[in-house]
Amino acid sequence: MAKEAKEKNIKELEDLPGIGPTTAEKLRESGYDTLEKIAVASPHDLSELTGMSVDNAKKAVDAAKQATTVVYSTGSEIYDQRKLIGRITTGSKDLNELLGGGLEIKAITEAYGKFASGKTQLGFQLSVNVQLPRDKGGLEGAVLFIDTEGTFRPERIETIATAAGLDPKLALDNMLVVRAETTEQQILTIERADKVIQEKNVKLIIIDSMMALFRSEFLGRGALGERQQKLNSHIHKLQNLADTHGLAVYITNQVMDNPGILFGDPTTPVGGNIMAHAATTRLYMRKSKEDKRIVRLVDSPSMPEGEAVIKITPNGIRD
Ligand code: GTP
Ligand code: MG
Repeated sequence: MAKEAKEKNIKELEDLPGIGPTTAEKLRESGYDTLEKIAVASPHDLSELTGMSVDNAKKAVDAAKQATTVVYSTGSEIYDQRKLIGRITTGSKDLNELLGGGLEIKAITEAYGKFASGKTQLGFQLSVNVQLPRDKGGLEGAVLFIDTEGTFRPERIETIATAAGLDPKLALDNMLVVRAETTEQQILTIERADKVIQEKNVKLIIIDSMMALFRSEFLGRGALGERQQKLNSHIHKLQNLADTHGLAVYITNQVMDNPGILFGDPTTPVGGNIMAHAATTRLYMRKSKEDKRIVRLVDSPSMPEGEAVIKITPNGIRD
């Protein structure tokens, strides 16, 4: 106990036995400026550098060793932490299971698919669900919703929120909606998001749709390089926000028919390689009978590929 207390008091070079201000200065000038560096140094080198005896240098190195620690985590500790990673319920049990519990935080989840496949509706549902208490599958957080297509519908949020047991007015107040009409607006909203994320406790960022403006502004082959460069840094900033604030990112994406695919479904998300690597998890959504939608997990670091069937009901997304 006494030893531990003593070790904890060693915070700087000067706290080491036999090292006064002058010796510490000499050490720093030679690059030995942290306790860690002293801890792995050879006493002979230190002695030569500073003129202190090898014996004293050895004592200083030993003390530095005691004062510095390596933090080990066992595999099970990391496993337990990962299970605690917050998730946002999608409203559908099957889809939650497909995703390993729900929409993951500190990650980008992309939903791509043709028109009316339900990408926006899922975004609306997530916007409501993130506000729910944790035991109901939410994160008690707010939403930053970037609408690039003009398809945000507050009336729909009102309905979904009421069905989820939230006060619809409060639910809408918890949504910060940016109607972006240019890629600059889309990019700037993300670049400047740090402050508002903290002030409003934003736990979900939605960009619906990610590529629409990039596609319409950068036309032709010549513009492709610039587009991909801008897109790349935009995505980096998004991932950075997700990591630093522990929030979830949901982006929607459009599709095209890839003529290179001769067999199977030629539907391919747009945005090329950069987009292909942007999302931690990719979901391919397609229309089925009536209000049914098939969601396919295409790309996930931890979950097997698979499908879930969801319904877009009047009250929102359900099994
Ligand atoms: P694009 O943005 O056009 O690419 O499509 P999307 O994938 O975003 O489709 P969206 O999420 O807008 O899904 C549209 C479908 O959701 C419609 O075809 C309806 O079936 C359903 N939907 C939209 N609004 C409502 C609603 O208020 N009530 C119900 N029951 N269904 C709705
Ligand atoms: Mg949409």
